[in-house]
Amino acid sequence: MILVTGGAGYIGSHICLELLNAGHAVVVFDNLVNGNVEALRRVEAICGRPIAFQNGDLRDPSAIERLFSEYPVEAVIHLAGLKSVEDSVRRPLSYFDNNVKGALHLLLAMENAGVRKLVFSSSATVYGEPEALPLSESARTGATNPYGRTKWMIEHILQDVVKADPSRSFSDHGPVLCQVRMLNESPLIPDFEWLERMISEETRAA
Ligand SMILES: NC(=O)c1ccc[n+]([C@@H]2O[C@H](COP(=O)([O-])OP(=O)(O)OC[C@H]3O[C@@H](n4cnc5c(N)ncnc54)[C@H](O)[C@@H]3O)[C@@H](O)[C@H]2O)c1
Repeated sequence: MILVTGGAGYIGSHICLELLNAGHAVVVFDNLVNGNVEALRRVEAICGRPIAFQNGDLRDPSAIERLFSEYPVEAVIHLAGLKSVEDSVRRPLSYFDNNVKGALHLLLAMENAGVRKLVFSSSATVYGEPEALPLSESARTGATNPYGRTKWMIEHILQDVVKADPSRSFSDHGPVLCQVRMLNESPLIPDFEWLERMISEETRAA
């Protein structure tokens, strides 16, 4: 079973659709601050298969710990987070609290449950002002706003986890920890083709 945090949101609900179509069982953990259970009900109707849903907040460690004790989770796609650059400039502490603390609680719950596979939705905001376009994966990072810095911090937490246990970087079955830096300019490509491509890459990694 795959846990999708933030699965009731925009990208999450599309990922749930792809996961169900690929034959996976799915559980969503979302506090609905910007998500909608109706999106999940529609995905269930399209696929004719159920999505388990737990309404919970990643800032509450007991809520995510409970999920791992109740569902046989094998891999996690972590999308839950606040995502507005402008809002993050106005409310930086809320962003660090929600995104960084939330990711830490998730990682600790995964460790306690022995779940090692994670795909993390990072963001191209970690690059700040790009030195050259188009951006390449190896371009220098340097976030210029609190939202981008939350993603950058989580990336560094993940890199330290891999440094402490290099077997988490890659396994015989593919990456164990993987981060995807998404670009929100991508909707310029019509029909959400970019999203489908990104989702199939994320689900392959999971
Ligand atoms: N949409 C984009 O173009 C884009 C670009 C780059 C990165 N991202 C990242 O991808 C992820 C998903 O983006 P999206 O566009 O689907 O956003 P979204 O706001 O639609 O989805 C995020 C979901 O996370 C939930 N959530 C937020 N904080 C939570 C918490 N503490 N506990 C539990 N649930 C929580 C929200 O209710 C929402 O359903 C985000 O992390 C975002 O930063 C998105």
